[in-house]
Amino acid sequence: MRVHLTATTKMWLLTSLAFFYVIIQYHVSNTWPLPTTGNDLQESEMDTQRRIWLKRIVGDSKLAEEIQNMIGEKVTQDLAYRINRQLLSHSCIFHENESLFNLPVIYIVTPTYRRPEQLAELTRMSQTLMHVQNIYWLLIEDAKEKSQMISNFLNRTGIRFIHLHSDSTQGKYKGAKPRGVGSRNKGLKWIRENANDGVLYFADDDNTYDLQLFKEMRYTKKVSMWPVGLVTQTGVSSPIVKNGKFVGFYDGWIGGRKFPVDMAGFAINIKFLKTRPNAAMAYKLGYEEDSFLKSLAPFEPQNIELKADNCTKILVWHTQTKKNPSSLPLDKKKYADTNLIELKQYVV
Ligand SMILES: *[C@@H]1O[C@H](CO)[C@@H](O)[C@H](O)[C@H]1NC(C)=O
Ligand SMILES: *[C@@H]1O[C@H](CO)[C@@H](O)[C@H](O)[C@H]1NC(C)=O
Ligand SMILES: *[C@@H]1O[C@H](CO)[C@@H](O)[C@H](O)[C@H]1NC(C)=O
Repeated sequence: MRVHLTATTKMWLLTSLAFFYVIIQYHVSNTWPLPTTGNDLQESEMDTQRRIWLKRIVGDSKLAEEIQNMIGEKVTQDLAYRINRQLLSHSCIFHENESLFNLPVIYIVTPTYRRPEQLAELTRMSQTLMHVQNIYWLLIEDAKEKSQMISNFLNRTGIRFIHLHSDSTQGKYKGAKPRGVGSRNKGLKWIRENANDGVLYFADDDNTYDLQLFKEMRYTKKVSMWPVGLVTQTGVSSPIVKNGKFVGFYDGWIGGRKFPVDMAGFAINIKFLKTRPNAAMAYKLGYEEDSFLKSLAPFEPQNIELKADNCTKILVWHTQTKKNPSSLPLDKKKYADTNLIELKQYVV
């Protein structure tokens, strides 16, 4: 990453770093003894630690190195000492025992495809995810190849992402097209190969997510579930809970499913997932969730971890943005050399 440093960016970087470093000092003060309290760690070990933390924060090893070189060890320590730690004990960034470094990662798997609403939905979703700590966003395009526009979009969000694609025209199914299955399975494959722990969540791009939802799912032990709003004519799809216990499912369409739930209504622990090497989603319209959850067998509905206060809160909504028709073609001759040419590439 090329960094051209103007005076303002330098100031900005310094300020953010001061902030980050104080957070680090505060949250790892048990594992990183400070010089005044006796230092058991070798200098070089401390440097390595610092680089790892910095890398995790900025999500880019080269940038981390540049920042470290620019700032220097003495200055960072100084900054950290000078800013009152008490300030941070009131910080609202972390929730209770959460810190940036012991939070389980949430892998958010989102299938997407080109359509008039795509960028609008992705914008809304990304601006929610920007507020969630320690996530990986796996955005998987249903397309022959990854689009540059989506690459650029992801890059701009600052979210840690994995950009993949999966071509659903290379059919694995018959009849009606279960959109997103290929993409979700591709995401599953990536997680199996690249993640060891944390939590997997299938989050479609047409939902609305409450930030609390991510706090609820982050400590999922096997499979957790919660209500999803605006699903079918019942208005909500949810496990039915009585006296704190699972007693059934409420969903407008049961269809003989063992797990009649919405895609947005559950999360899976990755360690648990990896004990089920054959778990995958079937290419069967309407049975995507059910087939996946059944493939986690042995796993019974009674084993579900109930979230959202015994499933009394709706923290995710299946928004169902109005489907828009494709826009009219642009007269490229008439509008040559105008902004409309560029704008038109964002609208389908
Ligand atoms: C993201 O943007 C940076 C800076 O503009 C660029 O160097 C980098 O290659 C981009 N990465 C991707 C994946 O597009
Ligand atoms: C704190 O961490 C433990 C596991 O280390 C977890 O079980 C618990 O739910 C966490 N608390 C909150 C509020 O997230
Ligand atoms: C769920 O319900 C049970 C039984 O009523 C109760 O003991 C428990 O505290 C509830 N949990 C939450 C998170 O509300």
